[in-house]
Amino acid sequence: MASQNRTIVLLPGDGIGPEVTRAAAGVLADCAAEFGHHFDFVEMPFGGCAIDATGEPMPDETFTACRNADAILLGAVGGPCWDSMPIGKRAESGLLALRKGLGLYINVRPVELHAPLKNLSPLHPKRASRIRMEIVRELAGDIYFGEHRVEGSNGDERASDVAVYSTGEVERVARYAFARAEKREGRLASVDKANVLASSALWRRTVTRIAADYPGVAVEHLYVDNAAMQLVLAPSQFDVILTGNMFGDILSDEAAALVGSIGLIPSMSCGDGPSLYEPIHGSAPSLAGRDVACPIGAILSACMMLRESFGLALEAEWIESALERVLSQGVRTMDISEPGCTPVGCAEFAERLRGEMHASLEHQERYGWGV
Ligand code: NAD
Ligand code: IPM
Ligand code: MN
Repeated sequence: MASQNRTIVLLPGDGIGPEVTRAAAGVLADCAAEFGHHFDFVEMPFGGCAIDATGEPMPDETFTACRNADAILLGAVGGPCWDSMPIGKRAESGLLALRKGLGLYINVRPVELHAPLKNLSPLHPKRASRIRMEIVRELAGDIYFGEHRVEGSNGDERASDVAVYSTGEVERVARYAFARAEKREGRLASVDKANVLASSALWRRTVTRIAADYPGVAVEHLYVDNAAMQLVLAPSQFDVILTGNMFGDILSDEAAALVGSIGLIPSMSCGDGPSLYEPIHGSAPSLAGRDVACPIGAILSACMMLRESFGLALEAEWIESALERVLSQGVRTMDISEPGCTPVGCAEFAERLRGEMHASLEHQERYGWGV
């Protein structure tokens, strides 16, 4: 495989963001060293720390660096210091502006129960027997990007947020999700609230029309309230879940809980610009600075980057298989520890993983893969 030169922008952000980003960047650096690639890491201020440094959650230089990058790795943004700032000025608005600015209208969140973690699901083992789904969340529309308005004052206010979807916005993300389902198990569940919302009724009409172009994919439509229940009752029914921005945000945290911890789940945001990779969790203020956060969501986000942006599937598998072995050995961060396991911090978890990655390469050099 030819060696690659890549520029990766790192946006560590706030709270546990820098800790998990450091862990994932270390894994990427090892990957480059072992496989002969050159990854240039460019770290930029973003989120609350950027507000403190520059007054803006997404400074112009940060956006320019992201636009020129081959891929972007983000930790998390936000925290109590910036919570009193108005909507539009706070740390989270920087993230929405980055997604919108780069034209990232698709967000893919793979959720699966790792075999060594099967006892961590809060579900009865029978219900949790096989959880392996991908949530495709629309990322650049819906109530997130409609008008947000506050009228009135002095305790007599009225606030509104407008949920908007156009045919084209639904169609482009739906086509992506159908193509993804074709390559998986060929099942797509589209989730909406078409019994109440006009934007959801348009969503369902559009998905139904698009479905005719993908005869190999079995489609079903679920209202979001039922989907939330089905996720808990029978998560194995889901292969690809296609849904809007708001429902996707909520359902993906719920799905994360089913497989043990929100710290485990990676994501890719893609569309027009360079893709952005980030764990789905937030800045977890109560864990920040304590070296206890789970870096697996960030590390698996880095693996998604290798596979999806750079086409480096072998490298991604190398990291993912070492991760499964480390988890089987019982090396665990606090959120996924069980009796009999070895609890470690965020940095040590990454060290143990890197040790396992190197050990497997030495083994391979001596005996070949699979021996
Ligand atoms: P959160 O995801 O930060 O935390 C929710 C719960 O999960 C907490 O109990 C936390 O301790 C735990 N948790 C999260 N990540 C973990 C990890 N890696 N390892 C172990 N445990 C982990 O959500 P929240 O508390 O609702 O939000 C905190 C802040 O993060 C807010 O400012 C919010 O706006 C922001 N946020 C940012 C992003 C992002 O940057 N992509 C995503 C979600 C929330
Ligand atoms: C996520 C987060 C963000 C979202 C926030 C921080 C803007 O919750 O990525 O899941 O709602 O999209
Ligand atoms: Mn979220």
